[in-house]
Amino acid sequence: VFEAYQAIQLELEREPVDFLARQLPDRLLAARQALATYLGARTPDLAFVANATTGVNIVANSLRLSTGDVILATDHEYGACDRTMRFVCAKTGASLQHVAIETPLVDGLDIVDTIAEALDTEPRPKLLLVSHITSPTALVFPVQAICAVARELGVLTLVDGAHAPGQIELDITAVGADFYTGNCHKWMCAPKGAGFLHAAPAAQEILGPLIVSWGWQADVPSMSRLWDEQEWAGTRDPAAWLAVPAAIEYQAARNWPSVRAECHELLRYARDGLLAIGGVEPLHPDDPALYAQMEAVELPPCDPLAVSTWLWDNARVEIPGVAWNGKALLRASVQSYNSVADVDRLLTALPRCLDALGVAHS
Ligand SMILES: Cc1ncc(COP(=O)(O)O)c(C=O)c1O
Repeated sequence: VFEAYQAIQLELEREPVDFLARQLPDRLLAARQALATYLGARTPDLAFVANATTGVNIVANSLRLSTGDVILATDHEYGACDRTMRFVCAKTGASLQHVAIETPLVDGLDIVDTIAEALDTEPRPKLLLVSHITSPTALVFPVQAICAVARELGVLTLVDGAHAPGQIELDITAVGADFYTGNCHKWMCAPKGAGFLHAAPAAQEILGPLIVSWGWQADVPSMSRLWDEQEWAGTRDPAAWLAVPAAIEYQAARNWPSVRAECHELLRYARDGLLAIGGVEPLHPDDPALYAQMEAVELPPCDPLAVSTWLWDNARVEIPGVAWNGKALLRASVQSYNSVADVDRLLTALPRCLDALGVAHS
């Protein structure tokens, strides 16, 4: 995939005008079509953006908010996306409210009901921001059911799918969100800078460009205002977008559903090993509907960033430690290139790390 990406960059740099002015529209169309097929989307409803942060910003800045309006988000959202909502609220007099999805999740806790109850209030929120796979807690949220409830209540939905494509089977049309943004540069292993924004046809009406360029009031509009307004934001390198088909083909040629299943099994092994360390607690039951290739556990009270730094410095294990809702979390990820030996290195190093940091763990 990286070779395909660099080959595209070489083509671009050799003949930039021909590439950008003449070849790009058709090449982008082919890349978008490949991604749309992969995601279960209609091509006109899908635009490339740099990343999920950009997708969230496009939607947030397109909302016509005023004083007293409410945006609802869960308390598991990614910090940058939460900030984006706070930023637009601060500018407009709207407010960002959070619905708590308490952990540890207990069997039978209905995430959908909890969110439905928070939505069914006055003033009715203008938008619900919800992650498909949460960043601090690595939970898979039932976004299809959540979006259905929000639709019934007349609330627009923005699903932050930064971690979903490539990690779980995705059918964006079935999810039914008004807006769905995601990354190809995480679990699809595309080059960095390959993100997308999907918008349902009716929801596209409210969107405007984050950066105004030639596509706004385009002289020669394409078949999709979404493409025109969101994709051309001045001269930049579109190679990451054009390499997305290579990433899709790479995974398709390797029976990715079975790779994902193997990764999940290795992650379960990691989870079991982590939970066997005294004081380490689960955030949810061992239910495959709740987690895929990422798993967060709660550490005994400590500075999770110090844990993460120690594990990198002393064991070359790259694993994020996250302070979330007063808890110290450690989030493991397993991708196709990880092995049992990698997980064992973490499991051996973590007790040493906790000892070194003076954290009681048994
Ligand atoms: C849930 C979630 N949303 C959004 C993002 C932002 O992704 P990016 O930095 O590619 O914009 C991340 C990044 O890790 C994330 O985990």
